[in-house]
Amino acid sequence: MDNTETLSFDDFDELVNPRLLEPEFDEVVERAISRRGFLGGALALGSVTALASATLPTGAHAEGSRFGFEAIKTSTEDKVTVPAGFKAEVVARWGDPLFSDTPAFDPATRGTAATQARAFGDNTDGMEVFSHAGRSLLVVNNEYTNRSIIWGNLSDGPDADAVSKGMMAHGVTVVELAEGEDGWQIVKDSPYNRRITPQTEMRLTGPAAGHALMRTEADPSGTKALGTWNNCGNGVTPWGTYLACEENFNGYFSAADEAHKVSDALKRYSVSSKDWGYQWATVDARFDVAKHPNEPNRAGYVVEIDPTDSTSTPKKRTALGRFKHENAECVVNNDGRLVIYMGDDERGEFLYRYVSDNVYASGVDTDDLMENGTLYAAKFYDTGAGAWLELTEATTGMSKAEICIHTRQAASKVGATTMDRPEWVAANPNAAELYCALTNNKNRGLKPNAGGDLTPVGGPNPREANKYGQILRWKPNGSDHTAEGFAWDLYVMAGNPEVHQDANKGSDNLSAGNMFNAPDGLSFDDSGLLWIQTDGNYSNEGDFAGQGNNQMLAGDPVTGEIRRFLTGPKECEVTGLSWSADRRTMFVGIQHPGERGGSQWPDGNDVPRSAIIAVRREDGARIA
Ligand code: FEO
Ligand code: CA
Ligand code: CA
Ligand code: CA
Repeated sequence: MDNTETLSFDDFDELVNPRLLEPEFDEVVERAISRRGFLGGALALGSVTALASATLPTGAHAEGSRFGFEAIKTSTEDKVTVPAGFKAEVVARWGDPLFSDTPAFDPATRGTAATQARAFGDNTDGMEVFSHAGRSLLVVNNEYTNRSIIWGNLSDGPDADAVSKGMMAHGVTVVELAEGEDGWQIVKDSPYNRRITPQTEMRLTGPAAGHALMRTEADPSGTKALGTWNNCGNGVTPWGTYLACEENFNGYFSAADEAHKVSDALKRYSVSSKDWGYQWATVDARFDVAKHPNEPNRAGYVVEIDPTDSTSTPKKRTALGRFKHENAECVVNNDGRLVIYMGDDERGEFLYRYVSDNVYASGVDTDDLMENGTLYAAKFYDTGAGAWLELTEATTGMSKAEICIHTRQAASKVGATTMDRPEWVAANPNAAELYCALTNNKNRGLKPNAGGDLTPVGGPNPREANKYGQILRWKPNGSDHTAEGFAWDLYVMAGNPEVHQDANKGSDNLSAGNMFNAPDGLSFDDSGLLWIQTDGNYSNEGDFAGQGNNQMLAGDPVTGEIRRFLTGPKECEVTGLSWSADRRTMFVGIQHPGERGGSQWPDGNDVPRSAIIAVRREDGARIA
């Protein structure tokens, strides 16, 4: 195994694309001048003050606690823990067959490329259970695979089939689930079952489709891409389709000639001559960036999938921009326009909003709603006000297609606020109010982002070298999701009050009893509780002493109270949340258990497997 195995995606990106420690002084001056130009200097500041008028909800909720469970302690055990009165059972694991012609997962061989292509993918992430024609259809992202696990039985390293098996473990799984005597199970051979992989044909849609930067030797039209990979969080459209969000797509490209230099535009996305260790270019030449420099321009999008038709062609929605998409939270505004909130998860990157031109109503062309609209990037002010900065030809000097391909560069041009790694965004079903997990950022105040934008301490990113993360909240002015302005605050600052007395102890709603680090997955339930999932440091030592394994908590958005609900097995991340139609089952994803070799979950052997679990109440009652 090479030494990139243990690096996080962000650390790998910095290895291949080192940040300058100090930006050149000239660069600072140049940036300041160009920003004044775009914002209109003092005039812009005046309008910003006017935006500060919106107010956030304050004060405690008279009705008291709305949690239907007692908080649990942190855990370092190699199992899932839930509160008294609840049970958690495994539903689907990496390698479980979707079809009866495919053998059961064999921990000795860990499958082949052919069996993996017809089995549940690896490292479960964003997901949704759709109710369709009386059936429960789970659509789930399979973000990546741990090479030390999937290839751990190969003493001579991976051959071509093992490389392809790794590729087939990526993508999206669509599988019907049914609840029986033994709990929830996969329905083998369901007509809805499907694997979408990095080789599945997709259609590129929206402003970037067909642009010169999207054309390749295999696809001179620039409209037909193959596959999706590194799908992190997800979204659900009002019309019942699934959105898979492509995140660290760059780490799969390489060049046979390691000295090959990529363009600056690719460098902004940390594409380089070296991949993260997957070796895909050895089995599919389109991943050789020296030979096919436009191929990476065809990844980094939001992909729309129709779960009700296993023959449908997924659509890459370029109108939603190209970056390291975390999730895509869809809201129908009061006027009917579709608004999608999206984070770009990399140190010092931005938070985005998409607003459709036309309105959603029954019978409208939903393709249009995700092809014709405007992107915005968020600007935050220390006053508690914020503004959405439009990304247009006038504000960026770039064409619409270029904005959709080089979205990061466009947001840098308008001077959007560099953030502490925006992960999931969740919309409160009871209020025009959004939450975003800013997971952490060890470079805050110390290093610029990949494009050289400064990352000053302040606003919603208030701690230098931010170790613990925070959850940002904002409220659109006038409860209008298309408004320019909003008011923001922090819902919680994570920290460790047992170890620190300064800002690293966290905000007042954090205590020794509910502490955590690195909030990541966020999702509201129907009752309006905010579920918080973590992807943090599980060492249980030093700054993280007492915090145990990764976990899931629930937060009351009104009172600010937060309670721990679930703890995961060793070395896992808890990510992805969905519900059965009757709300008696909560489906939760357990990703990368034993990523450092320290877990035997869930099968009690040395091949840990990412899995989805079903959490139910022992009395069978509805959870939320
Ligand atoms: Fe795949 Fe931002 O986590
Ligand atoms: Ca995530
Ligand atoms: Ca994360
Ligand atoms: Ca992850």
